[in-house]
Amino acid sequence: MTTPALPSVDVSNLKTFGVIGAGQMGLGIAQVAAQVGLDVVILDATAELAEKGRKKMGASLDRLVEKGKLTGEQRDALMSRVRVANNASDLAPCDIVVEAATENTDVKIRLFQAADAAMKPGAILASNTSSISITKLAGATKRPELVAGMHFMNPVPVMKLCEIVRGVQSSDNTIAILTTIAQKMGKTTIQSKDIPGFLVNRMLIPFLNEACFALQEGVGSPEDLDLAGKLGLNHPMGPLELADLIGLDTCLAIAEVLHKEFGDTKYRPSSILKNLVAAGWLGRKTGRGFYVYDDKGNKQHSAI
Ligand SMILES: NC(=O)c1ccc[n+]([C@@H]2O[C@H](COP(=O)([O-])OP(=O)(O)OC[C@H]3O[C@@H](n4cnc5c(N)ncnc54)[C@H](O)[C@@H]3O)[C@@H](O)[C@H]2O)c1
Repeated sequence: MTTPALPSVDVSNLKTFGVIGAGQMGLGIAQVAAQVGLDVVILDATAELAEKGRKKMGASLDRLVEKGKLTGEQRDALMSRVRVANNASDLAPCDIVVEAATENTDVKIRLFQAADAAMKPGAILASNTSSISITKLAGATKRPELVAGMHFMNPVPVMKLCEIVRGVQSSDNTIAILTTIAQKMGKTTIQSKDIPGFLVNRMLIPFLNEACFALQEGVGSPEDLDLAGKLGLNHPMGPLELADLIGLDTCLAIAEVLHKEFGDTKYRPSSILKNLVAAGWLGRKTGRGFYVYDDKGNKQHSAI
């Protein structure tokens, strides 16, 4: 029996942080990592997509400068720490990589294999997945004890929680290091076992999906369902607004994982959610989901 390699990440000396996926979550994670002084490498399916993501991050930092929440010097220093990868081999210097690509098992397995092959021994490979088995992703690598879940919330720079998910083979040391890194990034951590949906999405996705069922049954309008959530439940956002923020493709993918893995019909995704995704109306990221959004992301009116 071979002894598993212990993580060689010295948290106090952590330097290079890799992010796979330059979408809303990947860019948020990259921003927060750069904010705490780490050098960040962003990999997407192509260097062009990663560069587009980096520019988007720059634009959102510009808005913070306009609002007086960041100085121009801080923005420039932060952006100078963020670079774009041409391919997976550019993840070689990373002490830790967090994968935040599309919520699809096959895509993530391929990315885990590529990152594992490129990364140095002892470096940690985490996933921001909302629902996919960490143990399965770990099993696709040669470093399963160095793999765990690091589930940030959306928007990452704002939301305080990070859920650390322990796969079957995750070592205590890997969990301890990821917990410390998340705290260094200003997050409060909770720990979950590797069960579909973990803690947050086990509660959230059935709630959002039930709002979709109520909508498709004509129980109420999108606006009234969202007011019910905000004023009746004291949630900061209504369920349909939140689904639009998360991305309807991501909500559907998580619901499908819960349904398939638990084999319980209570998790079956609603037809309206499936139809909106089939139509390409994915929420804020496409400008239309349950609501229509203008170019600046301001909500206009319901789309249903
Ligand atoms: N959206 C949320 O609210 C939220 C919250 C927590 C966790 N997550 C999880 O974070 C992950 C990303 O979600 P998101 O909302 O940022 O999605 P997104 O659609 O905004 O971004 C996904 C990114 O992955 C990239 N990608 C796809 N295939 C790739 C490949 N082969 N190689 C490299 N990059 C690839 C896409 O180009 C895109 O930039 C998912 O696993 C999701 O479940 C999402």
